[in-house]
Amino acid sequence: MEFSVPALAPEPLASLPSPAYLIFRDRLLANLDSMIQVAKSADRLRPHCKTHKMSRIIELWVERGVKKHKAATIAECEMCAAAGAEDVLLAYNPVGPNIDRLVSLAETFPDCRFSATCDDPRPLQLLSRAAAAAGVTIGVWLDVNVGMQRTGITPETPGAAALYHSISELPGLEPGGFHVYDGHQRQGDLMERRAAVAAEWSRVLTLRSEAEALGTAVPAFACGGTPTFPCYAAMSDPAIELCPGTSVLSDSGYGSTFPDLPFAPAAAILTRVVSRPAENRLTLDLGNKAVAADPPKGARVYFPDLPAAVQDIHSEEHLVLITPEAERFAPGDALLAVPAHVCPTSALYDEVAIVDNGQITEYWKTTSRNRRISL
Ligand SMILES: Cc1ncc(COP(=O)(O)O)c(C=O)c1O
Repeated sequence: MEFSVPALAPEPLASLPSPAYLIFRDRLLANLDSMIQVAKSADRLRPHCKTHKMSRIIELWVERGVKKHKAATIAECEMCAAAGAEDVLLAYNPVGPNIDRLVSLAETFPDCRFSATCDDPRPLQLLSRAAAAAGVTIGVWLDVNVGMQRTGITPETPGAAALYHSISELPGLEPGGFHVYDGHQRQGDLMERRAAVAAEWSRVLTLRSEAEALGTAVPAFACGGTPTFPCYAAMSDPAIELCPGTSVLSDSGYGSTFPDLPFAPAAAILTRVVSRPAENRLTLDLGNKAVAADPPKGARVYFPDLPAAVQDIHSEEHLVLITPEAERFAPGDALLAVPAHVCPTSALYDEVAIVDNGQITEYWKTTSRNRRISL
């Protein structure tokens, strides 16, 4: 699959230091609009902010009526609330000092509803105690393991419904619903992905019936990521919330694996040739501190201008390409690179240059790049 990105004008191409993280504003706005279109309404979206970690993007969502957000860290939660989100789900089980930090968020932003995932009674008890002592209410979503085997409780686990029901009996907490993340669903064929999602969904519905039989409602389901976004979007259950993150910026990894997704890469890295150590080698200032070391070496980035180049050495500050086209380039020449995995790449940059018609028009901060903002 080929991915083109818009060109930079001769200036800033000459003067912008590399490596530089770029966002093409038109592409970003088109992805936001496409996401609302796929979701069919802004209300059904709860996008994950870990892809970009930028307040400005949360503000763009809020302007478009998307008020519910998902986050992976306390800093991301704080960023979302400060940027106008009304409802923030920490899709990460709070443990240790993060329990008090989450409660502090609820105290600091009383107009925002905060909730978190949970899959074990112990942190639930601790969260309840902290929330009740502070006089705040935190929503808790049962983290349901539908096959990824990363976190959560499988729907068939005896006691899963009872654990969810217990939330309703703990002071300071309220049941938020089920968190259903399925990052293991990576079928390239949309029909196969749909079938896999239908199978996981029927297990989730069985668990819902069990929770309801215990007298606890399941008001919402926070479902899926980008690959399963169209699958959950096609379902009509009004309690389904859609939680893609990567689609905001998109990347060459998802773009090549899931050709059905209507999103184009909105982020790229400006890199330059720093050396030509052999006839067929080009060394770029695009080490693994400039583009994420994920996926494995060899496929971490895509060059629209050198799509067949072999990615040989990837060290902290250097990426060495092997290509018969090396002679086209000299030290100082620039290339644009599309990350294969954009989310950890965003976290490598303190700021991003916003590109409009080839020009840099502003810089945005990667607001929640650090693990702590104020709390
Ligand atoms: C819990 C959770 N929800 C949603 C997402 C968003 O998924 P995607 O990156 O496929 O958009 C992720 C991604 O890692 C995640 O971990």
